[in-house]
Parts: sequence; structure tokens; C-alpha cells
Amino acid sequence: MLTAQSITKTFGGNRAVDEVSFTIKKGTITGLIGPNGAGKTTLFNCLAGLFPPTSGSLSLEGERIDGLSPDRIFAKGLARTFQIPRPFPEMTVLENVMVAPLHQRGERFWANWLTPGRVAAEERTLAAAARHWIDFVGLSHLADQPARVLSGGQRKLLELARVLVAKPRLILLDEPGAGVNPVLLDAIVDRIVSLNRQGVTFLVIEHNMDLVMNLCSPIMVMAQGRLLMAGTAQEVRDDPRVVEAYLGGAPA
Ligand SMILES: Nc1ncnc2c1ncn2[C@@H]1O[C@H](COP(=O)(O)OP(=O)(O)O)[C@@H](O)[C@H]1O
Ligand SMILES: [Mg+2]
Repeated sequence: MLTAQSITKTFGGNRAVDEVSFTIKKGTITGLIGPNGAGKTTLFNCLAGLFPPTSGSLSLEGERIDGLSPDRIFAKGLARTFQIPRPFPEMTVLENVMVAPLHQRGERFWANWLTPGRVAAEERTLAAAARHWIDFVGLSHLADQPARVLSGGQRKLLELARVLVAKPRLILLDEPGAGVNPVLLDAIVDRIVSLNRQGVTFLVIEHNMDLVMNLCSPIMVMAQGRLLMAGTAQEVRDDPRVVEAYLGGAPA
């Protein structure tokens, strides 16, 4: 699904991501773990095009995507969610879900002007799709409420609905469990598994080890910008380098 070759991202002299290479197999829920500052979010930002990697190459199902804008990468089927989602607070949940694809169409000025009927029809289709995915993530009772009333966990579900409208093939989730109460966390995990059964591939950054170990296979481990290893939950648990990375290099 995704191949990363020697991805490096530097900030000044800091190699936040350092020569990272991996492949994500289609149909997997791949995990990405590592201590704070390991470079996980920076790697996501490179994959999703928020900033281009300093060096290295990325391909999505054989097609190069490094250097493309986030919009172009999103349009090619790679979506990401943020560690701390920031919906538009005064817009409703429904409007927040509709806004990303609408924005792209708004740029098609002549299409709007020449074929207003078709645009209106597309908007109805989009609203229906948005309601479908809002329902899917369990937020339909809040669809017409402003996003500011949502809890942290509900915002994560809203963000999932927002990217699902675009029917992504690969979704990058940055700490879906952080700050989410256990009931909503179950709902999020359930939705991930359901989407995965429908063919969506996932790459998940998560600190909750029980969650990662149960949900993800394989699991990749990063530390200090580098990819330490990748393997099954058991292999990760049994690898002394992983323990050492989490203990900050202290003798085990
Ligand atoms: N926009 C940025 N500008 C400068 N340094 C950054 C930026 N983003 C991340 N870093 C640095 O990159 C390193 C990796 O950070 P990050 O990718 O957020 O790690 P993680 O998500 O694994 O906790 C850290 O040293 C961090 O300070
Ligand atoms: Mg992070």
C-alpha cells in the first residue's frame, strides 16, 4: 500500500526522522509506537504532505507522492487525523464533515457558475454521505450541534467521519486513544476494525500499549528518529532494544 524509502526530516540540525524505510501492507492495521520525541508525528506529517521529507521517497500503491501537497495526497486516498483535532468550533458537526470536499469544489468557480443545478445536486449527495459517516461514528444525535460542544473523544470521531467522506484507502491515525474515555475508545476501536474489514488500511500511532498490542499487526517501533524494529506484538514485547528505548537508554 505504502512504501517509504530512507525518509529523513531535519529541523535545523535535529534529525527528527532519520533514514526511515518501511512498507505498509494492504489490509493491515499497522502500529507505530515509540517514546515521546521519537519522530512519529513528524513521520506522519511527511507521509501526509504537511511538509515534504528532507530526503527519501514515498509511494502509494506504486505512485510517487513525496513532494505533493496535502490536498493532492488526500485526493489520492491517503488521509490522516491529528493528535489534537481542531474542528471549526462554531460550525455544526455536519458542516465540519462537509467542509473539506466542498472547499475543493469551491475552487471550481466556472463549474459553479455554468452548472449550478449539478453543484446543488452534488451538495445534496455530499450532505447524505456526511450524514452516513456521522451515523457510522455514532455522532448522529450531535449532527446539528456546533462542534465546540464535543468532548475530546467525540472530536476524534468527528475527524474520522470527516476523512471518511473522501473514501480513503489508507488512514493515518495519530493517537486515537489519547484523552478519550474508555466507552468512546471502544467505539473508536470498533469503527477502525469495521473499516478495516471493508478494506481500509491503517497506520496507527498510539501510546496505549494494550490497545496497540490488541489492534495492530505488525507494530513498528521508532526511537530518536530511527526505526528500531518491526514485528508482531510478541516480538516487540520480547525485544530488549524496545525496552531500552522506553527506559531512555538506561541499563536494563
Ligand atoms: N515543526 C517542528 N519544528 C522543529 N522541530 C520539530 C517540529 N516538529 C517536531 N520537531 C522535533 O522533532 C522531534 C520529533 O518530534 P515528534 O515527531 O513530535 O515526536 P513524537 O510524535 O514521536 O512524540 C522532536 O525533537 C521535536 O522537537
Ligand atoms: Mg506525536
